[in-house]
Amino acid sequence: MGTASSKDYDSSSSHGGEEREDQGGGGQLYVSLKMENYNLKGELIPHVYGSVPLVGSWDSSKALALERESMSMWELSFVVPPNHETLDFKFLLKPKNSNLSYVVEEGPNRQLIGGTLQGDKRSAMFNLGADEILEYRVYIKADRVSPFDLAASWRAYQENFQPSTVRGIPDVSINSAAESSNKHGSSANLELDLEDYVVPTPTKSANSGLVYAANMTETPRSLSGGVFSKADGSSDALHGQTDTVISFDRPAMEVIVPDPSNLSSQSGLGESKSVGTFSHPQKQEGHRGLFVDRGVGSPRLVKPENATTLFIDNKHDSEAKNSMPAAAGAVAAAAVADQMLGPKEEQHLAIVLVGLPARGKTFTAAKLTRYLRWLGHDTKHFNVGKYRRLKLGANLAADFFRDDNPEGLEARNEVAALALEDMISWMQEGGQVGILDATNSTRKRRNMLMRMAEGKCKIIFLETICNDRQIIERNIRLKVQQSPDYAEEPDFEAGYHDFKGRLENYEKVYEPVEEGSYIKLIDMVSGHGGQIQMNNISGYLPGRIVFFLVNTHLTPRPILLTRHGESRDNVRGRIGGDSVISDAGELYAKKLANFVEKRLKNERAASIWTSTLQRTILTASPIVGFPKIQWRALDEINAGVCDGMTYEEIKKNMPDEYESRKNDKLRYRYPRGESYLDVIQRLEPVIIELERQRAPVVVVAHQAVLRALYAYFADRPLKEIPHIEMPLHTIIEIQMGVTGVQEKRYKLM
Ligand code: F6P
Repeated sequence: MGTASSKDYDSSSSHGGEEREDQGGGGQLYVSLKMENYNLKGELIPHVYGSVPLVGSWDSSKALALERESMSMWELSFVVPPNHETLDFKFLLKPKNSNLSYVVEEGPNRQLIGGTLQGDKRSAMFNLGADEILEYRVYIKADRVSPFDLAASWRAYQENFQPSTVRGIPDVSINSAAESSNKHGSSANLELDLEDYVVPTPTKSANSGLVYAANMTETPRSLSGGVFSKADGSSDALHGQTDTVISFDRPAMEVIVPDPSNLSSQSGLGESKSVGTFSHPQKQEGHRGLFVDRGVGSPRLVKPENATTLFIDNKHDSEAKNSMPAAAGAVAAAAVADQMLGPKEEQHLAIVLVGLPARGKTFTAAKLTRYLRWLGHDTKHFNVGKYRRLKLGANLAADFFRDDNPEGLEARNEVAALALEDMISWMQEGGQVGILDATNSTRKRRNMLMRMAEGKCKIIFLETICNDRQIIERNIRLKVQQSPDYAEEPDFEAGYHDFKGRLENYEKVYEPVEEGSYIKLIDMVSGHGGQIQMNNISGYLPGRIVFFLVNTHLTPRPILLTRHGESRDNVRGRIGGDSVISDAGELYAKKLANFVEKRLKNERAASIWTSTLQRTILTASPIVGFPKIQWRALDEINAGVCDGMTYEEIKKNMPDEYESRKNDKLRYRYPRGESYLDVIQRLEPVIIELERQRAPVVVVAHQAVLRALYAYFADRPLKEIPHIEMPLHTIIEIQMGVTGVQEKRYKLM
């Protein structure tokens, strides 16, 4: 501990005979007095009062409050000369919001001499009446600190209103004034009318549920520019376009891949296999360009001598582009392994949907796209219906879809081929996973697609089969309400009748998949049972896809995301740490509990998830009636050596780190800490579990973690994640259901 010599914490014991150095170095004693009690009495705050040199008065109303250090520990620290005069004092407990009643500890006064407590070891016992005795263990620790350490610590305190450990000196905690009455008002009057707290959602929010999922798919390139170029070179004017254009450009990235041909001849092979993802090309020069991984559980990047450097930038069309994901950890490692070992065409994966209309293909495709993108795989959803509407218009009657209508059949095959061609061109420019969303319900159609894809990408058929008449009926109704195919049909019944006719035409010729690589989802939508069948599925990505599909379902349920209540470190502008919540944070905790009680009062089950850090646990603690689960994966981004600092301190003391983060916040990894990409990787099991849950979940977590979780539901690109607004004291309700994901926000304070 710097220049300090320390005496370890010891439960209150007699050190009376021990001689302390009180000369030399001019140091002071930094004394930390702690009280511990696991039997939480949140409303009773431990205080000390005593003789003039210590507290100034035996007047209990002037007693000094101890500060809450953790769930069970309270602390008061102060500095005295090593040869200080005897200090005598006692502990007392005061109710949080009242100066009037208090309980003084039993037994004689305590005496502190030379930084040690005199007399026998003893706990502090408080008689609360009615035979209730509350016992606190008492600890004391004294460190000698140099005047310089003290000066630095004091300055840090003054600058940041919080003790600093930056220079390795002990925290000097200056306790705040005795707990004042709750300036935010009492918690008694927290009756909430939930709608009063609704605030508008930001423009880029998760309201895709309001939009037909097919509209969110890729804009046909071969049909772009307002003119449709036919295979024979002629062109058609476009029919009315109703589809929304959403473009997702992926950030440029760099991945270092060892040249496989040189692997065996290299020394240090074990290290050279490892990978990392990171910074922009301009950061290559010098040692810093390649320094990404600073430990903590992710692959460590070591650039091997003969490494091949690959740049992925969708804006450039080059052979060097590849299927590397803009991601970290397992995803990057798997991509590199595939790059090194797999056949070239297997670097690109086409998931080709198969199934009758109204079997949830588009929603499955949209969900899978969202998941793979979030994991960092460059993924696009190509909806053949969108191509059909652009080329042939939206108002095609059921007869168009008859298999014995040669023009209709040819036109449908043509648009399917166009969509696949677009997908393949996109893959050749670096795209990794394409999802082709169409019925593809005959073997002939699928053979055509397989021939087109040969040597270019690997096809996995994903067939959705649903035998539940109720679910099919619901899907048909949704389709008639939402699909642009019926946008100009004012009569719902007429639309319904037409769509049923279309469905029958498909049913007549439907041939379930029995060829190639396939995954069949049979009656899986409800999340109750069902069956999944697979043929010829292997590899990292297909494995992840199967795992995701096994766990997702469409049962509607809300997911409530919130940051913890304001923490003491939030008040002080310090990042990371494990501080408790402030008064405002405590008020939010109560309001949140009230909100959850109301919002979930009709739910048969729900669960509350927190991180393992105090601020989330304390925020969730007033919530009653639901099980609480702590996830380490929900802990805040690990700021490594910057943990506990303010952004200003980082800027001042570590300007290079500050700049690197500013330049690439997504990939920047704190020294000995984490990057946002690392956080996303560790959150994958949380996402899978959220998908799997059928009951509502309340997630009380942290800013960076919630940005990453929210981005998954809102389908926000990776590069935006570190910049997503995630305000305190606000609940984001994500509604997961058959029509996708919708969002509502409540600002409680
Ligand atoms: O400041 C609160 C906090 O949760 C920190 O603990 C954490 O380091 C930070 O937010 C993450 O946000 P950003 O990535 O913008 O620094």
